[in-house]
Amino acid sequence: MYRLLFDLVFRRMDPERAHEVAFRLIRLVAQVPLLRDVVRRVFRSSPEGSVQVWGRRFPSRFGVAAGFDKDALGVAGLTMLGFGFVEVGTVTAHGQPGNEPPRLWRVLDQRALRNRMGFNNEGSAAVAERLRHLRATPAGRRLVVGVNIGKTKATPAEHAAVDYATSAGRLAPYADYLVVNVSSPNTPGLRDLQSVEALRPILEAARVAADEATAAAALPPVPLLVKIAPDLSDEDVDAVAELAAELGLDGIVAVNTTIGHDLGPGGLSGPPLLARGLDVVARLRSRLGPDAVIIGVGGITTPADAREYVAVGATLVQGYTGLIYEGPAYASRISRALAADQALRGPVRRKAVA
Ligand code: FNR
Repeated sequence: MYRLLFDLVFRRMDPERAHEVAFRLIRLVAQVPLLRDVVRRVFRSSPEGSVQVWGRRFPSRFGVAAGFDKDALGVAGLTMLGFGFVEVGTVTAHGQPGNEPPRLWRVLDQRALRNRMGFNNEGSAAVAERLRHLRATPAGRRLVVGVNIGKTKATPAEHAAVDYATSAGRLAPYADYLVVNVSSPNTPGLRDLQSVEALRPILEAARVAADEATAAAALPPVPLLVKIAPDLSDEDVDAVAELAAELGLDGIVAVNTTIGHDLGPGGLSGPPLLARGLDVVARLRSRLGPDAVIIGVGGITTPADAREYVAVGATLVQGYTGLIYEGPAYASRISRALAADQALRGPVRRKAVA
């Protein structure tokens, strides 16, 4: 059914426009209580699929990866489809338009996407305000929301730590976890921040700013993670893992889109990422030990793909491109499969990297 809709309608539209239309529809449905309840019932998965991570209950361990809901506009709508959590962002300290279109392409023969969006977003002050509203209601507080933060394009690399800290401070009071994104290929120089020397001051500054903000609001500290690229060498993956353990980071998100392709500018997502994503997660698990929180992302199309991530050591998993090609039943299919596995295995609890 969705295949037909995709082939007849979405495929004929500009990809960014199709995203806007679909996302608007999801948000619209979520605003009509009767419709929302019906949709939620259709896509709901069993409570046995919930996991306890950092002391927080995630209704499913399958969430929406960063980039789909950059400005925190559709958290309730995406959750309605069966996602257990939403990672909003990437949010930057200053709002910015992103790159000139075209900046999103379908790679139909691989069921993949290529994008060079360039962190189009309203900025961390606007997104924090939107999340403050969301958190003002009991229903909004129940939703699990991660916030992914990145560097404003106009901020020079030497001021990156201040840029990240500004966003961390604004967003920490409303986030269930924060992700320092140093791995998107579409902000010049951003991925260089993955080197340990560049990353250390950014993570330290983000930690301090987040802790000050949560302490001022009498809230517990927010878990802080880093998101890495699939194009890092194994040695660089190990170096980030060591730094994460040393700084007592609360987890790692692996992986972002890859520049390892010859299709044109931008990062590739979807099935071509699966093998490397699994490799990186397995490597991180072996380096960080059994208690670390690892969010596995990259190329999850089917429940079997998500199960593979869990099998190699992912605590939580995420998807983006799969939603575009598989349609609205994507999340519930995967959440239900993971819930069924978990019913056999028993409860999951994880703390931090260190
Ligand atoms: C992304 N991704 C992304 N990641 C991130 O950390 N910040 C971002 O702003 C974005 N933006 C973004 C836009 C688009 C159009 C896509 C397709 C992807 C990367 C995303 O979160 C994820 O890491 C990869 O897409 C791999 O997962 P999938 O898509 O293979 O499930």
